[in-house]
Amino acid sequence: MAKTYKNWKLDYDDDKVAWLGLDKADSGTNILSRDVIDELNDILDELGDVTVRGVVIYSAKANGFIAGADVKEFTSLTDPNMAFELIRRGQAVMDRIEMLKCPSVAMIHGFCMGGGLELALACRYRIAEADTTRLGLPEVKLGIHPGFGGSVRATQLLGPPAAMDLMLTGRGIDARRAKKMGLVNHAVPERQLRRGAKALVMQPPRDKPLALYKRLLNKKWARPLLAKYLWRNVSKKVSPEHYPAPFALIDLWLKFGDEPTEMLREEALSVARLITGATAQNLVRVFFLQERMKSAGKLEGYRPQRVHVIGGGVMGGDIAAWCAMQGLHVTVQDRSNESLGRVMARAYKLYKKKLKRARPIQAAMDRLVPDIHGYGLKRADVVIEAIFEDLEAKQTLFREVETKVRPDTLLCTNTSSIPLEEIGTALNDPGRLVGLHFFNPVAQMQLVEIVKGKDTHSEVVDRASAFTHRIKRLPLPVKSSPGFLVNRILMPYLMEAVVLAEQGVSIQAIDKAAVKFGMPMGPITLADTVGLDICLHVAENLSQHLGGEVPARLKKMVDAGHLGKKSGRGFYRYDKNGKAQKVSSTTPEKGGQDVVERLTLRYINEAMACLREGVIEDADLLDAGMIFGTGFAPFRGGPVKYVRSEGVQVMRESMQQLEEKYGERFHPDAYWSQL
Ligand code: NAI
Repeated sequence: MAKTYKNWKLDYDDDKVAWLGLDKADSGTNILSRDVIDELNDILDELGDVTVRGVVIYSAKANGFIAGADVKEFTSLTDPNMAFELIRRGQAVMDRIEMLKCPSVAMIHGFCMGGGLELALACRYRIAEADTTRLGLPEVKLGIHPGFGGSVRATQLLGPPAAMDLMLTGRGIDARRAKKMGLVNHAVPERQLRRGAKALVMQPPRDKPLALYKRLLNKKWARPLLAKYLWRNVSKKVSPEHYPAPFALIDLWLKFGDEPTEMLREEALSVARLITGATAQNLVRVFFLQERMKSAGKLEGYRPQRVHVIGGGVMGGDIAAWCAMQGLHVTVQDRSNESLGRVMARAYKLYKKKLKRARPIQAAMDRLVPDIHGYGLKRADVVIEAIFEDLEAKQTLFREVETKVRPDTLLCTNTSSIPLEEIGTALNDPGRLVGLHFFNPVAQMQLVEIVKGKDTHSEVVDRASAFTHRIKRLPLPVKSSPGFLVNRILMPYLMEAVVLAEQGVSIQAIDKAAVKFGMPMGPITLADTVGLDICLHVAENLSQHLGGEVPARLKKMVDAGHLGKKSGRGFYRYDKNGKAQKVSSTTPEKGGQDVVERLTLRYINEAMACLREGVIEDADLLDAGMIFGTGFAPFRGGPVKYVRSEGVQVMRESMQQLEEKYGERFHPDAYWSQL
């Protein structure tokens, strides 16, 4: 006997075990949308009417169990009361699973995230496929926290420290780790998954009680201590004013940790408040923008396998290592063996950090081949040039490359400032050349600008985007114009920081102001990290093309060899470990009030110019690019979104006031009136 639902499939086997499979209709991925939850509720009615030995909930989709709740549904709600009702409905269904009289098992493979893990937590047992499974409660990354009873059940199952860590960091863990911490009962190879799930139903193991100290930590008198510690740790990373969710979660547990019924209700209230707030709405928007960039990188039938990188310096070496880590076969060419040696050493360090286990490390090293003679060119699907920033050198190189590669090989340059059209003159078909502008450090920076020159064929841009997606980076198509998008917008902001410093505002005050606004690090620290020589080079290039002055102090510092972190001294001084030494400031912290305005408005004004010139397709992509390329305060939703929420007119007037006070560099771009 089997009854089919729209999203679920329910079968009973000979031992009267109900196998309940989720296969969300019209979707490649299982998510807990309203209709999925409602249908589950009906199924629970059906299960109440029959006698079963147990229920196994699984996913009928190959890619994973359940990716989470339907975020889009939640953010369409602007009324906290409606959000509360919706969350309570979800909670009620989870409660019904928990109350089933028979054993219930979540049989998990692939991703099991957010609402998906909350559903699994409502089951009595969990069994996970050992190799592909990733479990997590990443809600904080979207500005909320678990809302379908996850905060209650995770705490009961794992104890407060582990549960809070999982929810506050939002990190994903694999099946082995999940088994170790008690999140799943078993982690088994795929071939044993069904049998294992069935065994949990037929011979249900007895629950192990939580260790005494974990139970004690959940007591009313103990919670304030741990809560204080958690609060302190979280506030080292984010502020409650910008990212309220983790703090709300700590508060929830602190107040109601040992009263499950109350805690459930308060959990729903808290998520309802958060989800209708500005931070969550903006973070969810950023999430969808990221999805948009990913889908721009999907190209049916294009599967590059072999990459040849030329130039094994800072960028080329890291690009090559990254590509090999993503499973591609990579040859890396440089003029010197020493550079290639350094590439291999850096790659090993990266793999050790990221891949951890010996076998995957060895496999990645095997895919990365030093190739001083450039033998890899012939077979490459993609060639990435990353030699130094010199037009003639790049032209000479591409002239030679074109004679050696296949006609369909993708030809990319990592240039940061040379117009593509100029490099392209070296090729018989300049339309083959596309820019792949990576950011430093490659392994950390998710964004890659896909630079389209005047001649670049559009299918070349599509393939470059698909390649970027293949190596798990976010492709952002931009026009070939000075500084492209990210550096162009970033530079006026960095230069304003230098001017502020020149005018006597302390460098800490400048950095502090930007961090308070929501930037991941202050502009002075950022300039030191990027390297002042690189900043100077980009700034001079931009001022040559677009006008504007480069602060004299920057040039002086570079001339003196103070290049930032890498030389041990820039605006700050650094110790051997690259840690900035505290500066005892004697200068009064003047300028306070308008420091942030001066920094952000120069940034935003340049963003307007880019939109006017069509450097980027639209304002949404600009927001995404600046968040993933420069870390612009994600909770504000990106620079354009920020302007819109503050009020275009208000901000434009602030610009005009700054123009009167500080001169032409604050002249509002013509695009302001078009927003
Ligand atoms: P780098 O100076 O660290 O490395 C350049 C490497 O290319 C050196 O190892 C050199 O031996 C090698 N090389 C030079 N000519 C060669 C040739 N004809 N054949 C083979 N190898 C050759 O330079 P970096 O910083 O890695 O920059 C490379 C490119 O990436 C430049 O176009 C730069 O504008 C761009 N870029 C740099 C960023 C950065 O933060 N450093 C960021 C984004 C782009």
